[in-house]
Amino acid sequence: MDSKSYFDLSSGYKIPVVGLGTSKCKVEELEQALNAALEIGYRHIDTASVYNNENTIGTVLKQWLDSGKVKREQLFVATKLAFFNHSLNGIEENVLRSLEKLKLDYVDLYLIHFPVNIEKKEGHGEVWKTLETDHIAMWKDLEEQVDKGRIKSLGVSNFNQKQIQKILDSNPKHKITNLQVELHVFLQQPELVEFCHKNNITITAFGPLGSPGYNEHLLKVGEKAINIPHILSNEIVRKISEKHSKTPAQVVLRFLLQNDVIVIPKSVKPERLRENFDLFGFVLEESDMMELRRLDMGEKGRIFNFSMIKGLSSHPEWPFGTDIYTI
Ligand SMILES: NC(=O)c1ccc[n+]([C@@H]2O[C@H](COP(=O)([O-])OP(=O)(O)OC[C@H]3O[C@@H](n4cnc5c(N)ncnc54)[C@H](OP(=O)(O)O)[C@@H]3O)[C@@H](O)[C@H]2O)c1
Repeated sequence: MDSKSYFDLSSGYKIPVVGLGTSKCKVEELEQALNAALEIGYRHIDTASVYNNENTIGTVLKQWLDSGKVKREQLFVATKLAFFNHSLNGIEENVLRSLEKLKLDYVDLYLIHFPVNIEKKEGHGEVWKTLETDHIAMWKDLEEQVDKGRIKSLGVSNFNQKQIQKILDSNPKHKITNLQVELHVFLQQPELVEFCHKNNITITAFGPLGSPGYNEHLLKVGEKAINIPHILSNEIVRKISEKHSKTPAQVVLRFLLQNDVIVIPKSVKPERLRENFDLFGFVLEESDMMELRRLDMGEKGRIFNFSMIKGLSSHPEWPFGTDIYTI
């Protein structure tokens, strides 16, 4: 079993296979967590314009870079284009704003966060107006940002296979190097993973632990809690973790790594950060992998339905099915 700590991107750069997820953190928590993560050895940081935390991340990274404790080329910073108001602000402006907040000259990976462009309304529960979303035009704008040296590698997030194929068919100058999607033992998406790997697109799993804190977040933003399947307390996961004297989190993350998938677990707790980074001292056997593969619930395992953004699921470029609210 290959235990590489980096995967090769088709752009020629390398992506660390374990990164730090940073959504839904309070500012002080994130500062401490990022410092702890960098001490532990994390070099891949995942953020997004919509997380409203690029500024905090930029401040911590600047301290590390200025002190010489880390060199820029050792870091891998990924951020994402917000899924609203592109036509109002323009893609270049979005990229520049992220770079300014991150206090960086370039990002290592820039992803289109969601295949839908929508006009943002302030206030909760408002139906947002859908905007025309032309992925090929967006990609061309992003390629210009690569040519200007502001982005090293390009990717997409939450795109389905058809949407990815459309960009591939346009024969882009800069390839899709990465797809970031929800992926965990309950939502394994084997066809999508195989399709991407065949097309030399690396995959990053978001919510790799099944996002145990997601309901807390939904309640905080005024949404109803949903029925989230508990991956970390699943019987099979626990049995395999006991067998290897590892934690359930380490087992489900290791499972993804052994499927050649990058993981970006989020934690603000140093002990968990350490645990989630310590994935290389053991190997899941084929029998363990088979048992974990059988936990796949298909679309019923999907947690992220983006329901807080009203109107999103009626957009023509909505990437998922219509049955995801039934979990
Ligand atoms: N592209 C997209 O649309 C998209 C969508 C969602 C997320 N993401 C990215 O993916 C990252 C990860 O997803 P996520 O944060 O939703 O879910 P996750 O990483 O699956 O789970 C995070 C939750 O698990 C807890 N946790 C972390 N390590 C643990 C451990 N070892 N044992 C038990 N519990 C543990 C965390 O709590 P504590 O912090 O209290 O430890 C937090 O509540 C995000 O932070 C974000 O960067 C991207």
